[in-house]
Amino acid sequence: MSDSLSERDKRYIWHPYTSLSAPAPVPIVKGRGAYLIDEGDNFYLDAISSWWVTIHGHAHPYIAERLYRQALELEQVIFANFTHRPAVELAEYLVAILPLEVSKVFYSDNGSTATEVAIKMALQYWWNQKESAGLKRTKILAFHHGYHGDTFGAMSISGRSVFTEAFNDKLFDVIFIDTPEAATISQIRSIVEEHAEEIAAFIYEPLLQGSGGMRMYEPGMLNELLLLCQQHDIICIADEVMTGFGRTGKLFASSYMTAIPDIICLSKGLTGGTMALGVTACNAKIESAFISEEKMKTFFHGHSFTANPLACTAALASIDLLLQQDCLDRIDWISASNKEFVKKLEGRAGIKNARSLGTIAAFELSEGKDGYLNTAGKKLAELLMQQGIFIRPLGNTVYIMPPYCIREEELEGLQHAILAAYSA
Ligand SMILES: Cc1ncc(COP(=O)(O)O)c(C=O)c1O
Repeated sequence: MSDSLSERDKRYIWHPYTSLSAPAPVPIVKGRGAYLIDEGDNFYLDAISSWWVTIHGHAHPYIAERLYRQALELEQVIFANFTHRPAVELAEYLVAILPLEVSKVFYSDNGSTATEVAIKMALQYWWNQKESAGLKRTKILAFHHGYHGDTFGAMSISGRSVFTEAFNDKLFDVIFIDTPEAATISQIRSIVEEHAEEIAAFIYEPLLQGSGGMRMYEPGMLNELLLLCQQHDIICIADEVMTGFGRTGKLFASSYMTAIPDIICLSKGLTGGTMALGVTACNAKIESAFISEEKMKTFFHGHSFTANPLACTAALASIDLLLQQDCLDRIDWISASNKEFVKKLEGRAGIKNARSLGTIAAFELSEGKDGYLNTAGKKLAELLMQQGIFIRPLGNTVYIMPPYCIREEELEGLQHAILAAYSA
C-alpha cells in the first residue's frame, strides 16, 4: 500500500514556523466556507482564517470563477515592460478605498515584501534628495513587539524576539519605542524629538500588533504619535498587512485616526487569501522623490511575479465581496459578538487580559511565563482540534479571527468550546 499523504509530506517538506520534530501535519483535501476538510472527511472550523488571510472563507465560488476565466486569458506577464487590466483595475479600486491620497501602487508578493518595499521606498526617498536638500536620514523608528515579516529588512524593523534571535547581529539598527499610552507618550515624544533629524520613517501596525501577541493599543495615542512624526517630516508607514480589509471593524485600521500615513502596506486579506499578493501604496510626496531622468533615482526593486494577473484578479473579486452590504454587516456582527465573548471570558480562572478589536478576540492563559515559547496555548489548541476547531495560539496568547462568512451557530460553537475549557 502506498504511503499516506502525511508520511510523504514528512519525508521531504519543511513547514513554516514548525519544528522538524513536530508531528505530521493534517492533510487537507478541501476547503468550504469556514471549514477545512481532511482526507478522512473530518471538518475543522478555521477559526484563524488560515493565518488571517481567508476573509470570505475557503474555495469561494465567485473568486474561483473569476480566477478560472482570467487563467484562460492571461496567467502571467513580466510587469516591467507590460501592464494588464487586472493590475490597472486593482490599483484604481485601491485608490478609491484606501484611507490615504494614493499616488502610486507598487505590487509585490506577500506581507514581508510589502513592508520591505515600503522601507526601501522611504530610505530611497531621502537618498534621492540627499544632494539637493543636504539631508541624511537613514534610521527607522518602530515599535517593540512589532512584526513586519521574515525577510532581513522586515526582521530588522520588527521587534527583537524569539523569531529574530538567531539573526539579531545581522539586523540593521532601528530606534525602538513602546506603543504609546498616556503614561509613556511624553517619554516617546522625547525619543522622537531627539532623533528626528536622522529618522527617515516610522513603521507601525495600526492599533493591533498581531504576531507580537495580539497587543491592542489606543487610536488617540497613535494619532498623537503620527502627528508628532509628521511635524518632523518623518514618513509614516502603516503596515495594514493584517489589519486591512475589515479585520478591525473598519475597512482599514488607519481610518480610526485622523492623521494619514504616507505609505500603506497590504497583503493577507487582499486576495481573500486565494493568491499571494502584496501592495505598497504611497502618496504624491513619496512619488515626487522618484520622478527624475537620473537613472540612479529609479526604484530598483521587483519580483518575477510582480502584479501577477491571477493574484490581481483574486483581489478584485475579494474586494467586490468585501464591499457588499452583507459582508460589512457580518463584520459588524462578528465585532459585536466578540465584545460579548470578552465579557464572558473576563474573570474565568486561568484567563487574563480578554480583549477584542473588530473581528479579532484575544486573551492570555495565566499558566507559565508570558511569551511565544509558553506551551499553554498549544494544549488548548489540541483540545479544540479534537472538537473540530482549529486555532493557533501565539504561546499563551489565544485568539480567534474567523472568516467573515462564519455562521452564527458556528461562531457561538467556537466561543462556547473555548469557554467550556475554563470554569466561570
Ligand atoms: C503586520 C504584518 N506585516 C507583515 C507580515 C508578513 O506577511 P507575510 O507572512 O505574508 O510575509 C505579517 C504576517 O503575519 C503581519 O502580520
